[in-house]
Amino acid sequence: MTDASTEMSVDMGVDLGRGLRLANPVGLASGTAGFGFELAELIDLDRVGALYTKGTTRLARAGNAPPRVAETAGGMLNSIGLQNPGVEHVAHEYAPRFAQWTCAVVVNVAGASVAEYVDCVRILDAAPGVDGYELNISCPNITHGLDLGRDPQEAARVTAAVRAVTGRCVIVKLSPNVTDIAAVAVAVESAGADAVSAVNTFVGMKIHRHLRRPVLPRSGTGGLSGPAIKPLALAAVAAVRQVVRIPVIGVGGISDAGDAVDFLVAGADAVQVGTATFADPVAAVHIVDGLREYLADAGVSGPRELRWLPERDAERQP
Ligand SMILES: Cc1cc2nc3c(=O)[nH]c(=O)nc-3n(C[C@H](O)[C@H](O)[C@H](O)COP(=O)(O)O)c2cc1C
Repeated sequence: MTDASTEMSVDMGVDLGRGLRLANPVGLASGTAGFGFELAELIDLDRVGALYTKGTTRLARAGNAPPRVAETAGGMLNSIGLQNPGVEHVAHEYAPRFAQWTCAVVVNVAGASVAEYVDCVRILDAAPGVDGYELNISCPNITHGLDLGRDPQEAARVTAAVRAVTGRCVIVKLSPNVTDIAAVAVAVESAGADAVSAVNTFVGMKIHRHLRRPVLPRSGTGGLSGPAIKPLALAAVAAVRQVVRIPVIGVGGISDAGDAVDFLVAGADAVQVGTATFADPVAAVHIVDGLREYLADAGVSGPRELRWLPERDAERQP
């Protein structure tokens, strides 16, 4: 237990850049909380630091044909295919409602070309209630486009183009389905990203043994999320942390406050909770409370102090 005076000294706030300050480091990951409205019926959204919306594209998308999700050991595969109502609807119908929440709302933006990202951000930039953008350059579930995240130069190109049209915070969401995630992180930082989030889902497959074919339709693959990916996501965050100076948002398999702590130690400045929200809609709020208590018990003044510094370990070697 912590006494109230200790708790008072913990500052949970996190700056992501361009004036975007989160009241606490815990956010709801894109695609696992929609645009917040259903979840707002179940939890007090203002208890979380940020809502990262479902991926938003220039035009409405119906998404892929079902089945679109499959359970796997320690995780789930999804192949939603960016179902969303299109950016005009988000800007005109949803954004004014976002403005009523005190939690930050970051719109996750996706596109099949650089021009599509720029169009989306321009349209959203005229809307109230939007605190920043998370560029999804890494969705594994649509056939065309979004390969921008695999090539550092392409990733830099889309980042720079969006940077040029907005003064709001630009976060680039990195794909783990690359050979060198650190190289992409460096490229987007140089191109003007305010922060990066790591990681999106890993390409995976589940086989229907009786039917002897993949469970998911089309290519048979989907994006793997949940506890199964946590060690992989931690390694990605640590690799990215070593090469960039901008904030890193850790995401992948976070189910409780202990998992969030692990990401902060690995180098994250903030975290996102995704698949865990499907099992328990209150998971992210519990993580906020658990993290605050952990920091108070650890006697540190803020999340940043938990960070592992490899160079300090090296100095301690005999
Ligand atoms: C059903 C589902 C839909 C998702 N949709 C998006 C999306 O639209 N844009 C995006 O950047 N990430 C999307 N993601 C990825 C998550 O935001 C997150 O990066 C990933 O699930 C890993 O976190 P987790 O293990 O906590 O779920 C989606 C994930 C799931 C499970």
